[in-house]
This record gives sequence, C-alpha cells and structure tokens, in this order.
Amino acid sequence: MRIPQSFIDEIKYRNKIEDVIASYVNLKRAGSVYQGLCPFHSERTPSFTVFPNTETFHCFGCGAGGDVISFIMRAENLEYPGAVEFLAKRSGLEMPEEADGGKSETIKRSRMYEMNRAAALFFNKALYAPESEPAREYLKKRGLSRAAVKRFGLGFAPNSFHALSDHMHSLGYRDEELKEAFLCGKSERTGGYFDYFRGRIMFPIIDNFSNVIAFGGRALGDEKPKYLNTSDTPVFKKSRNLFALNFARNACAESLILCEGYMDVIAVNMAGFPNAVATLGTALTSEQARIMAKYTKKVILSYDSDDAGVAAAKRAIPILTDVGLEVKLLRMEGAKDPDEYIKKFGAARFKTLLEDSQGKLDYLCDSVLKKYDILIPEEKMKAADELCGVICGIWSDVEREIYITRIAERLSVEPSNLARDVERRMRRKQREEDTELRRKVVSDTLGYGDRVNREFVGNAKAARAEEAIIGILLLRPELIPEIRRGTVALCADDFVTAFNRRVFEALTACGEKCDIGALAQDFTLEEIDRITAMQVKRSALSKNDLAVLQENVQTLKAAAEEKNTENELEEIKSLLSKKKK
Ligand code: UTP
Ligand code: MN
Repeated sequence: MRIPQSFIDEIKYRNKIEDVIASYVNLKRAGSVYQGLCPFHSERTPSFTVFPNTETFHCFGCGAGGDVISFIMRAENLEYPGAVEFLAKRSGLEMPEEADGGKSETIKRSRMYEMNRAAALFFNKALYAPESEPAREYLKKRGLSRAAVKRFGLGFAPNSFHALSDHMHSLGYRDEELKEAFLCGKSERTGGYFDYFRGRIMFPIIDNFSNVIAFGGRALGDEKPKYLNTSDTPVFKKSRNLFALNFARNACAESLILCEGYMDVIAVNMAGFPNAVATLGTALTSEQARIMAKYTKKVILSYDSDDAGVAAAKRAIPILTDVGLEVKLLRMEGAKDPDEYIKKFGAARFKTLLEDSQGKLDYLCDSVLKKYDILIPEEKMKAADELCGVICGIWSDVEREIYITRIAERLSVEPSNLARDVERRMRRKQREEDTELRRKVVSDTLGYGDRVNREFVGNAKAARAEEAIIGILLLRPELIPEIRRGTVALCADDFVTAFNRRVFEALTACGEKCDIGALAQDFTLEEIDRITAMQVKRSALSKNDLAVLQENVQTLKAAAEEKNTENELEEIKSLLSKKKK
C-alpha cells in the first residue's frame, strides 16, 4: 500500500526543504533561492540550489535534484518509505498505521539489523566451540588478543553449509530473508540454500548506531577469495561505509588513519590508535571521503607499501583533497602493511611513523624519485617529466616555486629550465581541459550517454518539446485540467519518447495538485533528477503560460510527424532494397 498523499503533504509542510537541507549544507541566500556546495559531488564553487518556492533542489553541477524526500533518500541512503519516516520522526509525527507499504520497508530494515546481530553473536560463540580450535589457533598466530577479538566482535563461521541457517531458523528467520541479508546463498542448480560464509574468521561491519550491517570473512589459509564480503543490501552500501568508524569517530578530532585492510585497522588499534578505519574491499569513494570530512580535518593514508598500495594511495589523494581534507602519507619501509610493521618494529616505531608522515606533494615527488636512477640521463629525463606532472597540479604560485627549486636541486638541473617545462605542461593541461569540457557540453546537448531517456538521441527535437511541456506543467499544474478539458490538444500518445510519456501520464494522473514529490514514489532518484531539471530549466524562463504550452505541443507534434515520415521513408527504402534482391 502507498503512503497516503495527505500524510506526505503534512510531512512536507512540517519539513521545509530549506531547513532540512540547511542541516546538511551550508546554505547562503541568493535572491529568492539558496545556494551551497553540493553534498552529492565534489565542488569548490556552489552550484547546489534550493528553490523554496517550488520546494525543490537542483544541482547545476551534477544534475541531482528533487524534493525534500528525494534529498533525504540520497543524503541518508534510504528508500522512499524510509525517508518519509525519517522526516516524520524529525517533525514529531507518527507514521500512519495503515501505511503498510511504509512500515514494511522499515520492518525489513530493523529485521535485517536484528538478523545480522544474531548472526554476529552466533559467529562469536562459534569461535569458542571445541571444533573451532584451528580458528583460535589462527587468531593467535596473527597476534590478536582476546581483548581485540571482543572489541571488534570477531567470530568464526563454522565450515558447514547449514550451521548458521539452522540457528537462524530456530530464531524464526526464513531462508529468503537470510539470502537478502547475504548470510545465505541459493544454489541455481538445486534451488537449495546454503551458508554463504564457511570456515572463515568473521569481521562484523558496524555502523554509527551500533547496528551490525555487514560482514567480511577471511579464509584461514590460502583459499580464494582471501576475503568474502557482504554485497550491498537494503542496510549496507559498501561505498558509503568504513570499517571501524564506529570506534574511530570518537577519537579522531586530530586525524583519521586510513588503512587498506581489516587486519591493519585492528593492529593499529591494538598499538594504541583507535582512530583507524578501512574501506571495505573497494577503492576509496568520494562518499567515504565526505563521511571522513564530517569527523576530522586530516587523514593519514596508511596503505600497503607495495606497488598496488602506492597506486591506490595516489588515487585516494585527490578524492580526499577534493572534500577539503588535509592528506598525510605514511613512509613505511621494511614491512608490507601497518599490521606487519607493528609486529616487526613495535607500537612506538609506528607512532614515530605517524608523526613523521609526509605531505602529499613530498610523497608524490619521493615516489617518482625512488623509481628512477637519476644518474642515468634517460631516467633523469623521465623523472623530470613525471615531476613536472606533479608540480603542475599545484594551484598556488608560491608553493609551485618552492617545489620547483627543491626538485631542481634534487635532480641537479637549472630551476628556470624546470619552471619553463612546468609552464608548458600547465598550458597543455589547460587546453586538454577545455577540449574535454567542450566535448562534454556537446555530448550533453546531444543527449549521448543519456541513461534516463535513451530515446533522447535521435528524437532530440521532439524530446526537447516534451521536456518543455513537462517543465511548464510542473510549474503551472493548474494548466493540467486544460488538457483534460481539451483546451490543449495533447495526450500521452503524442509523446515520442517513452520516458517522457510515462512522466506525462503520472502528471495528468495527479491532476492540478501534482508536483515533483507526487512523482517520487514511482520514479528512481536518477529519473527525479531529470524531471527536476526540466522544471528548473523552465523556471529560468520568464514565460510559462498556456500560449507557450500550446507552442510546445505544436513543436512536439510537428517533430513527431517529421519522424514519422522519416520512418516511412526508411521503410520504403528497405522494402525497395529487399525487392531488388
Ligand atoms: P589485503 O590483501 O591487504 O589483506 O587486502 P589484509 O587486510 O592485509 O589481510 P591479511 O593481513 O592478509 O589477513 C586489504 C583489504 O582488501 C579487501 C579486504 O577488505 C582486506 O582487508 N579484500 C582483500 C577483499 O575484500 N577480498 C579479497 O579477496 C582480498
Ligand atoms: Mn595484511
């Protein structure tokens, strides 16, 4: 069942979009709108805009948009009913009992948390069973103390296809639920269910509300894969969570230590630094960077010292800097990762390592210089070339000069020569960026790569008219009855592209009370972005009345007609060519 519209209206009335968004984004008034830095992509100048009049938001940079509910869906990673409930709570409303559809989603979420917690307890208990000796042996070999096992709630998944399921069944959980939480898999061949994690050390992933949201499971030996992880579920997105943030967030006023692995985080914790986190088996995402920026100002990157780790660190640097975090890097030698380093050299040496961590520019320069033997001219040239690439990314003129001088010295070349190379490189980069921007503008206007409306390309003229019509109707819903009455001769069949037709049908179904929010239950976030953009585009124009609507209807019909004749021509051509054969 759907959440009643009256309840949604009440929610929106009590949660003014500009107030809600203000607790996520620092908004500044600009005329009748508010602007700020977009929370959904990295930017330096504000293109995120809130329109109190239409109760919508739109980012002119990344295209995200919608009403207050779609904002919360995105910001809090919730489905529609979850977002409604979130806003209900915020404004002290009870969810209506009869909104069953609303409840079922939240029941599912809370049930999934309970299910994961029960599984975590089961794994933890199983660690102490007599037959789990090899697991305990493994933890001992890795130097994990009892205290660490307790703190991180580690456990062991028995090497059985049914141990967990049997236990979970006894608690009343069904196979399908277990599968949805990624605790079970289902065999394609037999249709039978089986425990997903078997014979593995279990690392629960815990969110900031102490919910168990996922697991990582490490093999005891060399079995592949080394780690098995929960895939995304309704309560877990791996790109938006960090291992051990639940502990680190209380201890990271000064800095967060970002590691590659679960084991590293635990070792760093045991060495006395509770401010360590790790990504969950994927490369660092900008969402994770934004989360870190909420808690701290500085991140010390402590990735593995092998080539893969260095490459991952290089990719992580701009992601972290883009959200305003200061980045420092560990200069770790003689060990593969923090875990190994601490075991080999002790906690005190690791502390020194943290204190001596380098700024990102020094790190990047050092990593180039380490690669080449600069006594060999060819290698020296290669090093100089790569270093130019690093330096030309520095915005500040003064800072750039400092690095040019320093590096010229290390390479023993004239600083003025190096400076000229850097300048040339900067001009080339600027040109490349310009070309890329032009290419993007062209492909955007042509609609290539349009995932929401795939038919836009090839029907651009009709689709543009359709978007104008939708934009006008959203701004002036009182015109919708004119369509019903026939004053405007327009029906769903006149629409050329299926996506816009679906939007039009949803709009006319809502009638004159329609707005973006009314569509949110039936469209994806990406689709809502697009529909909001149609409205925003029209609201920038001064005239959006009946006459303009009529004009666009004419344009649409003419474009559809052209297309039809084109199609007919194509058909005739293909018939003729068949005949010839
Ligand atoms: P590592 O291979 O560096 O593992 O992967 P590790 O954490 O140091 O573990 P040990 O010391 O060998 O036991 C780093 C991280 O990458 C993810 C895990 O999150 C791991 O902690 N990973 C690695 C996977 O998700 N799957 C894999 O098969 C391997
Ligand atoms: Mn390791």
